Amino acid sequence: LERRKNRLYQINREAARYFYYNLQKNSRGYNYFRKRGVSSNTIKIFGLGYANPEWNDLLKYLVSKGYGEEELLEAGLVIEKKNKNGFYDRFRDRVMFPIVNTRGKVIGFGGRVLDDSVPKYLNSPDTLVFSKGNNLFGLNLVYKNSKIDKILLVEGYMDVISLYNKGIVYSVASLGTAFTESQCKMLKRWNDSIYICYDSDDAGLKASNKALDLLKRVGFKPRVIILPDGLDPDEYINKFGKELFENLFTTALDYIDFKILYYRNKFDINTVQGKVDFIKNISQDIKNISSPVERDVYINRVSDEVNISVDAIKREIFGIKGIKT
Ligand code: GTP
Ligand code: MN
Ligand code: MN
Ligand code: MN
Ligand code: MN
Repeated sequence: LERRKNRLYQINREAARYFYYNLQKNSRGYNYFRKRGVSSNTIKIFGLGYANPEWNDLLKYLVSKGYGEEELLEAGLVIEKKNKNGFYDRFRDRVMFPIVNTRGKVIGFGGRVLDDSVPKYLNSPDTLVFSKGNNLFGLNLVYKNSKIDKILLVEGYMDVISLYNKGIVYSVASLGTAFTESQCKMLKRWNDSIYICYDSDDAGLKASNKALDLLKRVGFKPRVIILPDGLDPDEYINKFGKELFENLFTTALDYIDFKILYYRNKFDINTVQGKVDFIKNISQDIKNISSPVERDVYINRVSDEVNISVDAIKREIFGIKGIKT
């Protein structure tokens, strides 16, 4: 098993080098990144690449290097034809993002189209060495840098890259899936200084809420940054720069502030039903807080916010089935 894993690491490394080389010689891929403001140094640091458009370009290259088709399949780099009569490249005409684990091994790839076609991103499938829920894009660089004292959790590859490109070197992204408990654990070192900064759209807000709950539940002190105007971190930093981005940390929302904003956005507390829904939902969250002191502080904050007595909120929380007071 160790030998098979090492073989997959080797194949992925070889593929990453090939994609990187392709990007350097193919202006289509290179210009894509340059147009998005990514410097050649950032391209190098992340080892960004380009997969050629042909159906079996990487396949031919790696076979010429002595790798077998079956192991390329196992690495997730090729797909078997429907008629079982050979293989073709999974990634074609895409800019490539190598995913590197904290030990510096290339374990998989993300690939993005250069236009508006779909799917916009394609990831390596889970393999012997890659599992999406157990890795974070960008974490390898963060682990190497002992000066980093906080972590910024973002949605996408390009967020991590554009932030890094502008000097914010401490962001990581989950790999196109929801943030998982296993990913949480990899961030334990920074548990008091975790910031979530997802896209400022409905999906991003919803995902922030989930990540916040998860981080809170496993003992972190997460805070949330909400960007203006539907922007994502990549768009924001390219528009407003590093300094304004860093200012956002001073106004990041803590747990209860985010919850209040989130449910206020979801329910109209000027109506009776809206108020009821607001209290029901936020009570459910407060109920899950283990510290009684913290719960009390939150209950008071909510009471102020929606102008409902502390008693009523407590009844709502402790009236929920299965709760010990
Ligand atoms: P850009 O358009 O390049 O700026 O990408 P983005 O990161 O802003 O895209 P978006 O906010 O739509 O998605 C965030 C992340 O979700 C991406 O970086 C991907 O990891 C993942 N993702 C987005 N679209 C797809 C898709 O079509 N398929 C898969 N598997 N993942 C996707
Ligand atoms: Mn998004
Ligand atoms: Mn999207
Ligand atoms: Mn985005
Ligand atoms: Mn984006």
